[in-house]
Amino acid sequence: MSITLRGFASALLLVLSAGAVQADEPPAAGNPARGKLLFLQCAACHDLKPAAVAKVGPNLNGVLGRKAGSVPGLASSPALKDSGIVWTEELLDKWIEMPGKLVPGTAMAFAGVAKPADRAALIAYLRQETAVATPAP
Ligand code: HEC
Repeated sequence: MSITLRGFASALLLVLSAGAVQADEPPAAGNPARGKLLFLQCAACHDLKPAAVAKVGPNLNGVLGRKAGSVPGLASSPALKDSGIVWTEELLDKWIEMPGKLVPGTAMAFAGVAKPADRAALIAYLRQETAVATPAP
């Protein structure tokens, strides 16, 4: 084996093991300031302020600890209402990653946020901005 090939092989190994380490890491504590910027993509459909009216989607104030699809005055989809979900940070993470995977048939037309760090930032922002009904894990 030539030196170049061996170098390539160890570089590949490094990349692979770096990936494995990343996958095993617990979700990083999110940065709420970054979450605020990321929330701009949600704000078209969601308000966050207390007592705000629902937009296309339900008001997200106090979403942690709330039963999914329970905001009054909004026709939530049967899929969301019947999901049995009570929102925790862990479930929000899954939801933001891919709403239709957590709740097939949901009316939330949103592709999802692929990066775990971005989701953690969004959740940190939601936690900071809204009343927390469940203790952080
Ligand atoms: C295109 C509009 C749209 C965008 C963008 C959007 N949502 Fe939604 N969202 C909805 C709708 C509509 C629902 C209600 C879904 C249903 O009833 O199935 C919903 C539901 C939710 C719920 C459940 C609320 C509850 O009371 O059960 C959460 C949490 C949520 N969205 C978070 C987010 C976050 C965070 C983002 C940004 C990363 C986002 N959404 C982006 C439209 C949107």
